[in-house]
Amino acid sequence: MFEVIEIEMIVPNLHLLTVRAPDIAEQIKPGQFVIVRSDEESERIPLSVADWDRKEGTITIIFMEVGVSTQKMASLKQGEYIPTVVGPLGKPSEIEKFGTVVCIGGCYGIGSIFPTIKAFHEKGNNVISIMEARSLNLLYWKDKIKPFCSSLFTITRDGSDGDIGHIKHIVEILHKNGIKPDRIIANGCTFMIYKASKDLSIFNVPIIVSLNPIMIDGTGMCGVCRVTVDGKMRFACVDGPDFDGRLVDWEELLTRRKQYVDEEAFLVHNSGCGGI
Ligand code: FES
Repeated sequence: MFEVIEIEMIVPNLHLLTVRAPDIAEQIKPGQFVIVRSDEESERIPLSVADWDRKEGTITIIFMEVGVSTQKMASLKQGEYIPTVVGPLGKPSEIEKFGTVVCIGGCYGIGSIFPTIKAFHEKGNNVISIMEARSLNLLYWKDKIKPFCSSLFTITRDGSDGDIGHIKHIVEILHKNGIKPDRIIANGCTFMIYKASKDLSIFNVPIIVSLNPIMIDGTGMCGVCRVTVDGKMRFACVDGPDFDGRLVDWEELLTRRKQYVDEEAFLVHNSGCGGI
């Protein structure tokens, strides 16, 4: 059982969960994830690890409340215990000295890209971070991320913080500031990383995205997380989650992500938790 050390809603609909998991905290590397169940009945949710404290033996996750299982997770209380935290899973991100690395985070991806930003900075890269959100009230961890970047830009769709726009606007920000990326990293929802992979391909450099398909075992056994990358079938849980977004079959991935929307809507409707 894993003790809940901290649970709080950091911005509307996004929650921070810190649990005591010393073995995972000891081994985790940037880019890896865990599979969490908040109780025995809940589905298994793959979540990137946004931070950890090896001394305290804790890991921190940022998750979005989207369905019954994440609603249950959001209602956990400090001091309670959860039955499942499995990890670290997946391959760690490739952290080398690439030169100028542009790191883009949106939604829960602002949290999950934090360890990668830190690691690129520590490796001596020139790290440019770009955080995107619908509005200022959905941005978080700017102060935590800033010390590891040579520049940090924000984009909001309503212009309430930083530049007004969406992912496509990143091209303009980079051109305007004379930034030539050697590598681009994007973390966030599937649509956001898809857009980043399309819109930023003009820079002709790897666009590493952390894929988040539906998963069950997280160890390459069930095949549920299969994705097509560069024409080959890959398992996101063991071959990824990082892949070059320019090579991902997005149409297939976006369709597979929507596979259980009706079942999820039914469960939420009948759970007494409100509705979607
Ligand atoms: Fe089962 Fe990846 S989650 S093979």
